[in-house]
Amino acid sequence: MFEKLKQEVLILLNRSELKNDIRLQQVCELLKNSVPHYDWVGFYFKNGDKDELKLGPYAGSPTDHTIIPFGKGICGQVAVSNQNFVVPDVKAQDNYIACSITVKAEIVVPLFINGENIGQIDIDSNTENPFTEKDERFLEFVNREVSKILV
Ligand code: SME
Repeated sequence: MFEKLKQEVLILLNRSELKNDIRLQQVCELLKNSVPHYDWVGFYFKNGDKDELKLGPYAGSPTDHTIIPFGKGICGQVAVSNQNFVVPDVKAQDNYIACSITVKAEIVVPLFINGENIGQIDIDSNTENPFTEKDERFLEFVNREVSKILV
Protein backbone atom coordinates (compact mmCIF):
# COMPACT_ATOMS: atom_id res chain seq x y z
CA MET A 1 0.00 0.00 0.00
CA PHE A 2 2.71 2.50 0.94
CA GLU A 3 4.70 2.04 -2.28
CA LYS A 4 1.69 3.01 -4.40
CA LEU A 5 0.85 5.86 -2.04
CA LYS A 6 4.38 7.24 -2.34
CA GLN A 7 3.88 7.65 -6.08
CA GLU A 8 0.55 9.38 -5.53
CA VAL A 9 2.09 11.72 -2.94
CA LEU A 10 4.81 12.67 -5.45
CA ILE A 11 2.21 13.41 -8.13
CA LEU A 12 0.28 15.72 -5.78
CA LEU A 13 3.39 17.51 -4.48
CA ASN A 14 4.71 18.07 -8.00
CA ARG A 15 1.66 20.10 -9.04
CA SER A 16 3.62 23.35 -8.90
CA GLU A 17 0.71 25.35 -10.33
CA LEU A 18 -1.02 24.92 -6.94
CA LYS A 19 -0.10 26.78 -3.76
CA ASN A 20 1.83 24.77 -1.17
CA ASP A 21 -1.06 24.74 1.30
CA ILE A 22 -3.38 23.26 -1.32
CA ARG A 23 -0.86 20.56 -2.17
CA LEU A 24 -0.37 19.72 1.52
CA GLN A 25 -4.12 19.66 2.03
CA GLN A 26 -4.45 17.15 -0.80
CA VAL A 27 -1.69 15.00 0.67
CA CYS A 28 -3.55 14.97 4.02
CA GLU A 29 -6.77 13.92 2.31
CA LEU A 30 -5.01 11.26 0.24
CA LEU A 31 -3.43 9.73 3.34
CA LYS A 32 -6.60 9.89 5.43
CA ASN A 33 -8.70 8.35 2.65
CA SER A 34 -6.18 5.67 1.67
CA VAL A 35 -4.86 4.29 4.95
CA PRO A 36 -7.59 2.63 7.02
CA HIS A 37 -5.89 3.40 10.35
CA TYR A 38 -5.35 7.12 9.56
CA ASP A 39 -8.37 9.01 10.93
CA TRP A 40 -6.93 12.52 11.23
CA VAL A 41 -3.90 13.73 9.25
CA GLY A 42 -2.38 17.16 9.63
CA PHE A 43 0.74 19.29 9.48
CA TYR A 44 1.92 21.58 12.26
CA PHE A 45 4.65 24.17 11.62
CA LYS A 46 6.80 26.30 13.89
CA ASN A 47 4.96 29.61 14.30
CA GLY A 48 7.49 32.24 13.20
CA ASP A 49 10.02 32.93 15.94
CA LYS A 50 7.75 31.65 18.70
CA ASP A 51 8.37 28.42 20.58
CA GLU A 52 5.02 27.05 19.49
CA LEU A 53 3.45 25.05 16.69
CA LYS A 54 0.65 26.31 14.48
CA LEU A 55 -1.79 24.02 12.70
CA GLY A 56 -1.38 23.93 8.93
CA PRO A 57 -3.33 21.93 6.35
CA TYR A 58 -5.20 18.91 7.72
CA ALA A 59 -7.89 16.36 6.90
CA GLY A 60 -10.38 15.16 9.48
CA SER A 61 -12.43 16.80 12.21
CA PRO A 62 -11.56 20.40 13.10
CA THR A 63 -9.43 20.66 16.26
CA ASP A 64 -9.33 23.37 18.94
CA HIS A 65 -5.58 22.82 19.21
CA THR A 66 -4.45 25.19 16.49
CA ILE A 67 -1.54 26.46 18.62
CA ILE A 68 0.58 24.04 20.67
CA PRO A 69 3.45 25.33 22.86
CA PHE A 70 6.79 23.51 22.49
CA GLY A 71 6.97 20.71 25.05
CA LYS A 72 3.20 20.28 25.35
CA GLY A 73 1.44 17.17 24.11
CA ILE A 74 2.93 14.64 21.72
CA CYS A 75 3.37 17.32 19.04
CA GLY A 76 5.08 19.77 21.37
CA GLN A 77 7.46 17.08 22.56
CA VAL A 78 8.47 16.21 19.00
CA ALA A 79 9.15 19.90 18.32
CA VAL A 80 11.83 19.65 21.03
CA SER A 81 13.11 16.06 20.64
CA ASN A 82 13.45 16.00 16.81
CA GLN A 83 12.48 12.32 17.00
CA ASN A 84 9.52 10.31 15.74
CA PHE A 85 6.99 9.71 18.51
CA VAL A 86 4.78 6.62 18.17
CA VAL A 87 2.00 6.35 20.75
CA PRO A 88 0.27 2.95 20.65
CA ASP A 89 -2.17 3.92 23.41
CA VAL A 90 -2.84 7.60 24.11
CA LYS A 91 -4.35 6.77 27.52
CA ALA A 92 -0.90 5.70 28.72
CA GLN A 93 0.57 9.19 28.02
CA ASP A 94 0.67 11.87 30.72
CA ASN A 95 1.74 14.67 28.39
CA TYR A 96 -0.98 14.29 25.79
CA ILE A 97 -3.50 16.76 24.34
CA ALA A 98 -6.76 15.01 23.50
CA CYS A 99 -8.42 16.23 20.30
CA SER A 100 -11.24 13.71 20.15
CA ILE A 101 -12.45 10.97 22.48
CA THR A 102 -12.39 8.49 19.59
CA VAL A 103 -8.60 8.70 19.20
CA LYS A 104 -6.70 5.69 20.52
CA ALA A 105 -3.22 6.10 19.02
CA GLU A 106 -1.04 8.76 17.46
CA ILE A 107 2.16 9.10 15.43
CA VAL A 108 4.13 12.32 14.97
CA VAL A 109 7.12 12.55 12.61
CA PRO A 110 9.25 15.71 12.46
CA LEU A 111 9.84 17.59 9.22
CA PHE A 112 13.31 19.01 8.58
CA ILE A 113 14.63 21.64 6.22
CA ASN A 114 18.43 21.63 6.07
CA GLY A 115 18.52 19.70 9.34
CA GLU A 116 16.25 22.14 11.15
CA ASN A 117 13.01 20.83 12.68
CA ILE A 118 10.43 23.20 11.19
CA GLY A 119 7.27 21.19 11.71
CA GLN A 120 5.74 17.76 11.69
CA ILE A 121 3.09 15.47 10.35
CA ASP A 122 0.61 14.30 12.97
CA ILE A 123 -1.71 11.32 12.55
CA ASP A 124 -4.45 10.20 14.90
CA SER A 125 -5.94 6.73 14.76
CA ASN A 126 -9.17 5.38 16.18
CA THR A 127 -7.53 1.93 16.15
CA GLU A 128 -5.41 0.85 19.08
CA ASN A 129 -1.70 0.15 18.43
CA PRO A 130 -1.92 0.41 14.61
CA PHE A 131 1.47 1.93 13.71
CA THR A 132 4.57 0.00 12.63
CA GLU A 133 7.99 0.95 11.29
CA LYS A 134 6.38 0.93 7.84
CA ASP A 135 4.31 3.96 8.86
CA GLU A 136 7.42 5.69 10.21
CA ARG A 137 9.43 5.09 7.01
CA PHE A 138 6.48 6.16 4.85
CA LEU A 139 5.86 9.36 6.82
CA GLU A 140 9.58 10.18 6.78
CA PHE A 141 9.38 9.88 3.00
CA VAL A 142 6.34 12.18 2.87
CA ASN A 143 8.08 14.79 5.02
CA ARG A 144 11.28 14.66 2.96
CA GLU A 145 9.26 15.27 -0.19
CA VAL A 146 7.19 18.02 1.47
CA SER A 147 10.36 19.77 2.64
CA LYS A 148 11.50 19.98 -1.01
CA ILE A 149 8.51 22.10 -2.00
CA LEU A 150 8.85 24.34 1.07
CA VAL A 151 12.43 25.48 0.46
N1 SME B 1 -2.79 14.89 20.28
C1 SME B 1 -1.85 15.92 19.94
C2 SME B 1 -2.55 17.24 19.72
C3 SME B 1 -2.91 17.49 18.30
S1 SME B 1 -4.31 16.64 17.81
O1 SME B 1 -4.00 15.18 17.81
C4 SME B 1 -4.82 17.10 16.32
C5 SME B 1 -0.79 16.06 21.01
O2 SME B 1 -0.88 15.46 22.07
O3 SME B 1 0.15 16.81 20.77
